[in-house]
This record gives sequence, structure tokens and C-alpha cells, in this order.
Amino acid sequence: MSFVDLLPELSLAEKASLLSGDGDWWTQAVPRLGLPSIELGDGPHGLRTETGVDMVWVPSTCFPTLSALAATWDRELVREVGAALGAEAAAMGVHLVLGPGVNIKRTPLCGRNFEYPSEDPWLTGDVAVAYVTGLQGAGVGACVKHFAANNQETDRTRISVEADERTLRELYLAAFERVVHEADPWALMCSYNRIGGTYASAHRWLLTTVLREEWGYDGVVVSDWDAVHDKLATVRAGLDLEMPGTQGRTDAQVVQAVQAGTLDESEVDRAARRVLHLVDRVRPGPGVVRASGYRPGDELTASQLAALGADAHHALARRAATSALTLVRNTGVLPLDPHGSQRVALIGGYARLPRIQGGGSAGVRPTWVDTPLEALRAALGDRLAFAEGYPVGESDYYQEQVPAALPSVGQLADEAVALAARSDVVVAVVGLPLAADSEAADRTDLALPADQVALLTRLAALDVPLVVVVSAGAAVTMDPWHDGAAAVLLTGLAGQGVGGAVADVLLGAADPGGRLTETYPLSLADTPGAIGFPGERGHIVYGEGVFVGYRWYDALDRAVRYPFGHGLSYTTFAYDDLRVDVLDAAAGRVRCTVTVTNTGSRRGSEVVQVYVGDPLSAVHRPVRELKGYAKVTLEAGGSERVVVDLAGRDFSYVDAACGRWRREGGQFVVSIGSSSRDLRASAVIELPDGGDATVPALVPDEEMPTDAVPWAVGTDGPARTGVAVP
Ligand code: GLC
Repeated sequence: MSFVDLLPELSLAEKASLLSGDGDWWTQAVPRLGLPSIELGDGPHGLRTETGVDMVWVPSTCFPTLSALAATWDRELVREVGAALGAEAAAMGVHLVLGPGVNIKRTPLCGRNFEYPSEDPWLTGDVAVAYVTGLQGAGVGACVKHFAANNQETDRTRISVEADERTLRELYLAAFERVVHEADPWALMCSYNRIGGTYASAHRWLLTTVLREEWGYDGVVVSDWDAVHDKLATVRAGLDLEMPGTQGRTDAQVVQAVQAGTLDESEVDRAARRVLHLVDRVRPGPGVVRASGYRPGDELTASQLAALGADAHHALARRAATSALTLVRNTGVLPLDPHGSQRVALIGGYARLPRIQGGGSAGVRPTWVDTPLEALRAALGDRLAFAEGYPVGESDYYQEQVPAALPSVGQLADEAVALAARSDVVVAVVGLPLAADSEAADRTDLALPADQVALLTRLAALDVPLVVVVSAGAAVTMDPWHDGAAAVLLTGLAGQGVGGAVADVLLGAADPGGRLTETYPLSLADTPGAIGFPGERGHIVYGEGVFVGYRWYDALDRAVRYPFGHGLSYTTFAYDDLRVDVLDAAAGRVRCTVTVTNTGSRRGSEVVQVYVGDPLSAVHRPVRELKGYAKVTLEAGGSERVVVDLAGRDFSYVDAACGRWRREGGQFVVSIGSSSRDLRASAVIELPDGGDATVPALVPDEEMPTDAVPWAVGTDGPARTGVAVP
């Protein structure tokens, strides 16, 4: 029996009750008919299960945040983490995980960038598909968020995003569309912000025209918490489930509107059916962790940890962190010799209390944490000496950590510099404070904390090789110490296994597997949107259009600190014999093949990246756009013939003038390389004009209005200009 079959038996009041939650984390049950409620739970990189007692959380595995997970460029690994998250959700009794977040990193300033995979929509969609596939394979639903264009935290519940249709579809909706088509997430969460002046929760073009009618999505749309401002408008627009519950207040509005004839009951039925369909899809897990008498604040017992899969998941978290760590600079100092006699100075409070995640609803209470200090001390013994270096405020483990009474900032720095001066190599672990990587707030600059910058500058001036390890959820600037550092390793916010991962990579037990999924700019002034951020008078104009991230820096040919896709291995790779074959011109099916050889002396991994350029297009297009990649691991001297296939929309753009995805006939430049700016080979191919065969025209020709403001997107959808298209 399917719960959807209950729909005809439900009263109007019962149906209306399904359109909002029961409390903070549950859907409404209908005991009369045996309909259970299901539990929704944050967050994207670990279960934050609340016990209802003052925000006390049940411990669970803190995996790498989505920004770090994306830096692995490893679909199978991301899928594995998704599956592990699903298993933990089932063990907790959670049926729908409120993640992944797939918003585009429009500006490095956004406080929630740690929760989002990339500045690139194609990579973001790729990561989302792998994650959702893994999670839902465990019988637990994914709730992909925040739909759409939630790219800043400043004024997030009111700001209106002003973006043209092409920008929205190509950049800000693309990852949602891909995950809907390729992984069918059981839910989507609408964002807080407005688009074109209308709240996303009541945006009919977004929630019905695009999501249902064009993409064919039949899952549930959940509101972000308290994102509903006009209940009836949200029901009409296509929102199904308002969270959290309103103790029946808005249910009554729905009943009254239907009875008054101002809301058609079919709209209520449509939303109620989707909620019933969701209850059908989720398979209630054992929920054994909390069912076994867990008391708020307890540590987990051995049997509860076993039920959670804690040991195996911690090992997975460490493996994923190792694959995420991104070595952006190495003059030869790394890897350190684990068996040599070098005296190593480890400096920085974040080595003792590592940054593993960001702040806000995504927070997790980890089962346990590897720290760089413990892991390196275990490996190096008394060769290692530690100095705090700078004051560390709060822990991001979400447990009360009363900061130890520390000496003054000056004294901490002096002690660290003195230790460094009498050492053979220095490893300084720095990073952003929790408040800089948190929901509900944005940064105002890209710098590391001033005391850390001052300390790094002093350390860089010593005649001792300096390795800088940076733990931040988004890009930071590196002046003035960068050129004085012998190596720079970026950890991102890599979860509870980060300490072991840092030791594995620094000591050469593992190759650093990460590649940048966002550009590291030289300065904030270079970034797209810097001038208008965070908007004014309630509006933020996306004037840069599709030119976000590397698309922006490449269009301006602007120097950057480290480009999108960059990351070093401990070995080197050669690319030979690139072939780009057009397999089916009409469908745009193209096969790229290249031989990659490990030309160094150690095993290592390489991410072969494929970019497409359309230099003679009728519209401004980015110089190149990522459209495929493959990660290979090769022994020293080993070679592999790597294949990356392109198809359909990989050559297209959204032509808002004619309302469709379009591939203009002509030449395309297919480039292959180790980053967006380290391109090793390219080829020019010809393809005919054509649309994207997989989706209908966005708006049939005869419906195109002709007198509207070009391409503004209001709740009735984009205004067409009716421009004739050759
Ligand atoms: C928050 C976040 C959302 C989260 C939800 C529930 O405001 O925006 O990502 O899942 O509320 O905590």
C-alpha cells in the first residue's frame, strides 16, 4: 500500500496539515490513517541531531565540508561519503538530510561558502549527483538547497537578486537542474532570498515553470526555515512543505481559502500528494542510536558507536580529507622525511584545535577528532616541538571548550619565532576563525586574522624553510608572507580526520589529492561583484552575468594567486597525444583522449581537466568552461590513456533572446590540462548549430512577449525581447 493512496481519504484539514511541519524537524502524521511523520535533519557533512534539550547534539561523524569534498575531484569518494551519511542518518532515525548545498560561490566573502562545492556550476552539479546518489542509496532522502541564488548571507532573508535569465540558468540553476535530472533528489529546499523582487518560496517561475514544467521534477519543495511569508502565495507557486511547523496557524489559512474559493483544492492536493510520496520513498532506519536510551549530552556508548559505523566512517573521513588537501606551492621542502633528524617546529593553535567545519545549521558534534599536533607528534616523537603562536578563540567542535588562559599575543608570537629560529623546518597551521566561516554572516575582507599574518611574516623572514597550512572554508589572501613560504597546503574545512590527513601528506605517506574548486585571487578588489557587494536598498545586481570565478579572471586576463583547478602532486605528469573526436556532430557527442604519464619518482594522482571555448559566439561567453574531468592515480613511470566524453549542452549557452539552450554552429576550442590556466593541449572542432536535444525550448516561440525589459526575471518568468534570432 502506498501512502499516496490515502489522499482521497484525507479531510481538507488533514491535507492542509501536511503542507507544514510538526515542530522544527518533523512532518505531520495522520494517526487515524496510519500515516507516520518523518524526521528532517541537518546537515550536509554530518548529522546534527538535536535532542530537544538546549541544542544539545548527538555525536556523529564530521566529514569534510562540501567545499573540501569537492576539492577531491573524486566522484566515487563523494558517493561513498554520501552513503556513509545515509547510514548514519538511518542509525539516528533521520529520513531526510538537509543537504547538499549547491549554491555557487559568487564571491569569496560569502560566509557559507564552506558548505558549497565550487564557483563552477558544472563541477557543483557533478559533486551533487555523486553525493545524492550515495545518500539516497541508503534509503535516506536528500534535500538539495538553497533553490535558488542564495550566494550571500548578508540580508539573506530579504535581499532581492537581480540577475538576467541566462545568468540564472547557466550559473545559478544549472547544478540544481543537473542533480534533478541525474540523481532525482527526493526534496529541494527553496532559499530565503527574493529573485526579481519575489521570494523564492513564492516564485512561480522558479518552483513551477522551471522546476516542474521544464525539468519534470516530482519531489517535494521544502521551505527554508521561516522562509514562508505568504502561505497561500507559496502554495500557488509550488511550495509543498513549510518548515518549521506553525502549530496549525497556516493550515487554517489554507482551509479557509479553499472554503472561501480563493484557493483551489487541487493545489492543496498536489502539495499533499508530494508529501505523501516522500513518506513512501524514505525507508525508516533503525534509529537505534537514540532509541537505545541516549541522554542529551552523553557520549555515545560502544554499541551506539558501532551502530553508527563510527570507526569505519572516521577512517573514511580521514581518507576523504587526504584526498581533499590541496598543495598549491612546494619549492621542494615537502614531503618531510619521517625518519630523518630534522627538528620540526609546529606552530599554531589550529594545530592543537583544528578547524574542521563551519558555523551555523551545518554544525556537527564529531565522534572524535584527529589533530595535526597529535598525529605529527606520534610520527616524529621528540623531533617535534609545538608553540601556540596566536590566540585561538572558540572550538568548532560544538562542545564547550573554555579557551585555556593564554599569554599575550606578542608573547605567543615571540615564543613561536624563537622556537622556529632554532629548528630545521617550520610548519605553521593558520586559518579563519569560526565566525568567518559561518551561516548568517559574510566576511568583509579576504585576509587571515592580523595576528596570524604578522606571525607568518616574521616566520617567513627567518632562514628556516616555512610550510604554511591554511584551514579556511573559502579563499584567503596571502600577502605579504606568501613568497617567503617554501610550501602552502590548503586543508579547507576537512572534517574530523583532518589531523591524520595533514600528517599523511606532510610526511609523504599520501599524495595531496586536492585541486582548487575556487580561484584564490590576489586581492578582494579583483573579485567579481566586489563593487556592488552586498547590494543596496534590498537589491543585489549580478552585473557580472555568467562571468563568475575563473570565468571572470580569464575574461579580464587578470593575474590570480592560484587558478581554479590548481593543485600539486608530489610527482609530475606529462600529457601526450591528445585526440578530440566528434562522434555525433548533431548531438554534440565528442570524445577527448589523452595519454597521461607519471614522469616523477613517486606514485601520485592527477586531475585531467577538459575545458570548452566558443570564441566566435554571437554572445559574450567565458574564454573556457569546465565540462569534464578524470582523476587518475599512477605509479612512477606509469601511463594511462584517459578518456573524457562531452555531449549536448556542454557546448551550449542559454540564449534568453530566443528562450532556449542553444549551440551555435561553428568552431569550438577543446582544451585539456592540469588547471584552468595550466593547459597542456587543445584542439579545434566544428559542430553544427543545434539546440540541446534533451530539453524543450524554454518558451515556445509564439509565447514570446516583445515589449518587456530585456531578460528581467519576475515571478511570471523572464521577459522576452522577441529579438529575432538567425
Ligand atoms: C537554516 C539554513 C538551512 C538549514 C535550515 C534548518 O536557516 O538556511 O540550510 O537546513 O535552516 O536548520
